[in-house]
Amino acid sequence: MWLGPLLLRERVHSACRPMRIPFTSSIASPSWRGDRTGSVTVSIENNTTQSGAASFDNARSEAFAERMMNSINEAAVTLMTSVGHRTGLFDVMGPMKAATSGAIAEAASLDERYVREWLGAMVTAGIVSYNPFKKLYHLPAEHAAWLTRAASPNNLAVSAQWVPMLSRSEDAIIERFRRGGGTRYCEYAGFHGLMAEESAQTVVAPLFEHILPLASELPERLETGIDVLDAGCGSGRALVAMAQRFPRSRFVGYDLNDDALAVGRAAAAAAGLSNLRFDVRDMTAYDEIQRFDLITTFDAVHDQKDPAGMLAGFARALKPEGVYLMQDIDGSSHLERNGERPLGSFLYTVSCMHCMAVSLGQGGAGLGAMWGVELAEQMLREAGFTDIVVHRLPHDPMNAYFIARVS
Ligand SMILES: C[S@@+](CC[C@H](N)C(=O)[O-])C[C@H]1O[C@@H](n2cnc3c(N)ncnc32)[C@H](O)[C@@H]1O
Repeated sequence: MWLGPLLLRERVHSACRPMRIPFTSSIASPSWRGDRTGSVTVSIENNTTQSGAASFDNARSEAFAERMMNSINEAAVTLMTSVGHRTGLFDVMGPMKAATSGAIAEAASLDERYVREWLGAMVTAGIVSYNPFKKLYHLPAEHAAWLTRAASPNNLAVSAQWVPMLSRSEDAIIERFRRGGGTRYCEYAGFHGLMAEESAQTVVAPLFEHILPLASELPERLETGIDVLDAGCGSGRALVAMAQRFPRSRFVGYDLNDDALAVGRAAAAAAGLSNLRFDVRDMTAYDEIQRFDLITTFDAVHDQKDPAGMLAGFARALKPEGVYLMQDIDGSSHLERNGERPLGSFLYTVSCMHCMAVSLGQGGAGLGAMWGVELAEQMLREAGFTDIVVHRLPHDPMNAYFIARVS
């Protein structure tokens, strides 16, 4: 999967600065170093053996405790941010002047007591401002700009939902820690819906202006009329958008999960599209010969059962002059290089709780979301692609965009 709403890379870095986790190899033992701003430094162990008894560094220990407390608090803020999105509270408060909890609850058609407790979490988190004399709450415009549906594709509250959504699978994942194996998609209630919400922000919004032009000939070829496959298409929002925009082209979506495809089919029918088809298809050992001019995958390689086989299938399925466009997580295949990644811990968490687990659940490779650009490039070459260019787009600091061709 992935997420990453339409953010400027600089803004994300700055938003993440308090949680920045640079790696350094200059310290011999593993250590967390915290300061009062909550920033932490992860050190990696070198291969020298420490001699003598290690002394206990009280300051280091206390800084670590502070860093952990901060983590627990921020996790709670993430959960309540998800609640604010799902209940529509942020949307109600966005255009609202400072108001009492009663007025906010009434405007949102929600129970006042719950809303007041939620507001307590929002005020202490610094998300909502509070006038204690008049007991008025206000969502500043600068915050609403990142938390409301009106702010989409910049709505970070969409991404906050991953933490509670994946937490619901905690017991199942802990069981897999003990006995191995993986999970099935049906164990993640709400996964495809949330993925579609993310995809609308990260893929659909910038699709025509930023993503498709990465292969400069694509917009014109799509206008003229070509055959397009989106593999692992999920609910197919990108396909519906493309099929509407390019009526002369023909679009196919393949996915393992028919419940996700049903959402795409309904959207295509509602839009009256006759140039778009959705087929249930396991991409394991995918094999079609020279069928498509463009193949896309949006966050849909690393959680496959057989990513290598699917990529090799893509190389065969492309017609001459065909293009494969792959969006996938912009991590490194080397853990020690991922300390500077925005939301590195978040990405490993999503991978452990979902991406890696669902691949293992199919008896698959379990690459994990942080398989890394280095391994991705290697696998593309082994699959038969000879011309590979990796792009980064300012709107999406989480993903890399690969344009791959077979020359
Ligand atoms: C992270 S989701 C991405 C969905 C979609 N591309 C999007 O951006 O919203 C990965 C998709 O890959 C599909 N998938 C996983 N394993 C598959 C397999 N073996 N064959 C076909 N699809 C598979 C899942 O059902 C899921 O919809």
